[in-house]
Amino acid sequence: MDRYAVIGNPIEHSLSPDIHRAFAAETGERLRYDKLPAPADGFADLAEAFFAQGGCGLNVTLPFKGEACRWVAQAQPAAARCGAVNTIALEGGRTLGFNTDGIGLVRDLEAQAVPITGRRLLLIGAGGAVSGILDALVEADPASVRIANRTLAKAEALAERHGATVAAAPLEGLDGRFDLIINGTSVGVSDSSGDFGGAGGLIAPALAVGVQCYDLFYRRDGQTPFCCWAKRAGAAWVSDGLGMLVEQAAAAFAIWRGRAPSTRDLLRSLRSGTAQ
Ligand code: ATR
Repeated sequence: MDRYAVIGNPIEHSLSPDIHRAFAAETGERLRYDKLPAPADGFADLAEAFFAQGGCGLNVTLPFKGEACRWVAQAQPAAARCGAVNTIALEGGRTLGFNTDGIGLVRDLEAQAVPITGRRLLLIGAGGAVSGILDALVEADPASVRIANRTLAKAEALAERHGATVAAAPLEGLDGRFDLIINGTSVGVSDSSGDFGGAGGLIAPALAVGVQCYDLFYRRDGQTPFCCWAKRAGAAWVSDGLGMLVEQAAAAFAIWRGRAPSTRDLLRSLRSGTAQ
């Protein structure tokens, strides 16, 4: 049976095996999909061994997306530009690297009827998560994109990849009017040093009033720290990134198997905990 896996650290709670097994069942594709936990310095050895033993494709998650981009024989232009690979496929025996996070986000926003075109976007954070989605958002033709980050230089480096539509700003003292705010910081998720709410909150709650707010992170119940903050602040609409996770997986599945699985029923069953 064709073998696939997700490689990362930590990986115990990854939903990717559930998602890909559901896609396989729905499309009638026969495949096996496992979790590969890798030690911090173990990505290359494990990936090498996986393909040497006949593996067909890998998903790559934190913290290895950057390393995967350097490791593959060839990274697709979009993945090379953001320096991050989340999907590896084999073509003629060579490893090819893709990044499906950006398309995953755009498809989830589309599915939830949230427009990007012509809108004023605020991206919070300038790490790997934001780097991976920036190009896909810019391609959807927003009116403007502001990248706000605690470390301004990282936001500036991302903004430099694009023209005048994309500008960098420090997090502190951030103001302006936005239509869609996207959180890509790890605050409250893997980073407990910060908080969205409270007096020392990351950004002023006034920024979110009446605004659509999306978190690149997810929880099955949707209640991520950013989503809870945005709701309290008076956001018009709030979503975590579970839909993006399913959509990026569907894009990876299509690369590997040449079939696009359907996503929205699966998303509903993941939310309700009834996915097999
Ligand atoms: P990832 O690959 O998940 O994006 P990362 O590259 O470590 O992880 O980026 C984490 C993001 O969260 C960064 O934008 C980081 O800000 P800095 O670039 O200034 O480090 C942001 N972040 C993490 N903890 C934060 C905090 N307490 N306050 C503000 N921003 C924080």
